[in-house]
Amino acid sequence: MPIRLLPETLVNRIAAGEVVERPAAAVKELVENALDAGARRIDVTLRDGGKALIQVVDDGGGMTADELSLAVERHATSKLPGDDLLNIHTLGFRGEALPSIGAVSRLTITSRQPGSDSAWALTVEGGAKGRPVPAAHPVGTRIEVRDLFYATPARLKFLKTTRTETDHAVDVVQRLAMAHPEVAFTVADEGRTPLRLPAQRGTLNGEDPLLARLGAIMGREFQENALPIDARREGVRLYGHIGLPTLNKNTTAGQYLFVNGRPVRDKLLLGAVRGAYADFLARDRHPLLALFLDIPCEDVDVNVHPAKTEVRFRDQGLVRGLIVGALKHALAGAGHRASTTVGQAALASFRADGARPIPQTAFQWQPQPHAGGGGSWPGITRPTAGQVEAARAFQAPVAAWEGPTAEGSAAAQPAYAPSILADAPHGDMVPGPLSPGLASAVAAMARANADDVPDFPLGIARAQVHQTYIVSQTRDGMVIVDQHAAHERLVYERIKQSMVAQGVKRQMLLIPEVVELEEAAASRLAERSDELAELGLCLESFGTGAVVVREIPALLGAKADIKALVTDIADELAELGDQHALKERLEEVCSSMACHGSVRAGRVLTLGEMDALLREMEATPHSGQCNHGRPTYVELKLADIERLFGRR
Ligand SMILES: Nc1ncnc2c1ncn2[C@@H]1O[C@H](COP(=O)(O)OP(=O)(O)OP(=O)(O)O)[C@@H](O)[C@H]1O
Ligand SMILES: [Mg+2]
Repeated sequence: MPIRLLPETLVNRIAAGEVVERPAAAVKELVENALDAGARRIDVTLRDGGKALIQVVDDGGGMTADELSLAVERHATSKLPGDDLLNIHTLGFRGEALPSIGAVSRLTITSRQPGSDSAWALTVEGGAKGRPVPAAHPVGTRIEVRDLFYATPARLKFLKTTRTETDHAVDVVQRLAMAHPEVAFTVADEGRTPLRLPAQRGTLNGEDPLLARLGAIMGREFQENALPIDARREGVRLYGHIGLPTLNKNTTAGQYLFVNGRPVRDKLLLGAVRGAYADFLARDRHPLLALFLDIPCEDVDVNVHPAKTEVRFRDQGLVRGLIVGALKHALAGAGHRASTTVGQAALASFRADGARPIPQTAFQWQPQPHAGGGGSWPGITRPTAGQVEAARAFQAPVAAWEGPTAEGSAAAQPAYAPSILADAPHGDMVPGPLSPGLASAVAAMARANADDVPDFPLGIARAQVHQTYIVSQTRDGMVIVDQHAAHERLVYERIKQSMVAQGVKRQMLLIPEVVELEEAAASRLAERSDELAELGLCLESFGTGAVVVREIPALLGAKADIKALVTDIADELAELGDQHALKERLEEVCSSMACHGSVRAGRVLTLGEMDALLREMEATPHSGQCNHGRPTYVELKLADIERLFGRR
């Protein structure tokens, strides 16, 4: 068969196969064009999930008759003035969307520029282009796509139900809308309006327009349980909002990531998010968040995917480090805060079916900008370092005293037994006994009556029930703490802190282990050997294509699978430019040490010990959830308890 150049229409249909694989993809291209044209309001109308009609109306800059005619030509764009693919400030840049859509549908564009006395319209049917004719239309552009894929019946067959296609289109518009809170959006589909987003400008009442927009899309629970992020490193900025770990899902569908305003699903970014939360969530649970990365355009290649949903970073390690660092810092700043949904879920399960729902406002958090690095309770004085130090004493088991807990008994407690951690590799963390001053203060608090409960966020311990749960009274409600989960988290945080303070202890291998790898992987490891040594792993190159490991972190123990560890680290260095396998593994070990070293359910605690536990939770970052993302405590407000009993 002779080689020939394909006709233009066929070329466009082939391109359409990549660019517009379903109605939602056409919606994405059209809405992106409207945003690039500076629109403030974008209305999308669908019929039959976009299969019969997609109409996108914007109030942006519009086009002249000549521009209209050019816009539907392949590779015609107004967005690459400098012919520089590394200098892209718009969502579009290829000049491919309109000709591709025009090749597989009946496309009509009507557009008018400000200052022009008439609008112009142009139609393309299955790739056959008409001429611009005068039309009536306000300033802006209306694009109608009828009978999408009528020219490519094979594609039509693969489309799903109307509802599914509409959902996809709504999802696409939502993602773009998150990056543009100042623009109003609607999506309508035959009488329904599945999406209606007013423009968010308001700083009037101090509301953050971005958070308001995110709340409208991701839900109020997210809005109430999100932490703000704003971090910079070397010209890269990361901002947005991340959910508390206790607000989690079993998929990553609640994770919205943007690079320079472009929604992406990027492996590197998702991996960084997982890394940042690894410490708080089980592997199969995923946080909710919306993160925006602004990066100089010469440092990112956006031209790597037909639908532009993937990007490539010049410095992957920088991006990953920025994300992991900023997220961990924010989560630490949240202190022991667990999401409000925890209390809500608890109350919901108390109620019989059909009972009145509890208004959400009852659980609202007062959102507070946090300074980072500490608890973020409004109007609460945190315990002093001395108090906290002394409060740690509670963690030792009470050997000599097993009697029932009673009010006022705390002051009479015996001295504390040696630490449960005494034989752990970090035995130097053995806490001292509870200082007599603190013990009596705590006992006094325990005796305080309801009228003058000191204003501690987690309240004053009142009782232990089933030797598993601590019940405490707060100023306006009560808290139930899972003593094992809470203590496990506290011990874990302490082990990690001491690891940071004292460095990772190493253990020399009797026989150094040689690990064979690809040549590039081995030299990458050798290059980073200083950094790995800081984490307790000492290795050096061993001829070509191998490394020899001489020391490993003592925490990993004698049975560590060194080859698997080293291979994982090498893979990460290749893929991400940074390694996390070692840190994650150390954290896993700490976590299981913490589990064994913490107070079990079933152990009797005195009121003094309980109070000390509560105070330490307040002072410890991440103490609102256990290492698997489950809450360590549930808070019930008095108002809600009263509602449960029909008193309100
Ligand atoms: N809604 C609109 N308002 C104003 N001008 C528009 C609009 N839609 C398209 N255009 C013009 O038509 C041109 C072609 O649009 P098209 O979407 O085909 O390509 P692009 O946006 O430049 O690049 P890409 O293929 O990456 O989307 C744009 O560069 C722009 O000048
Ligand atoms: Mg475009």
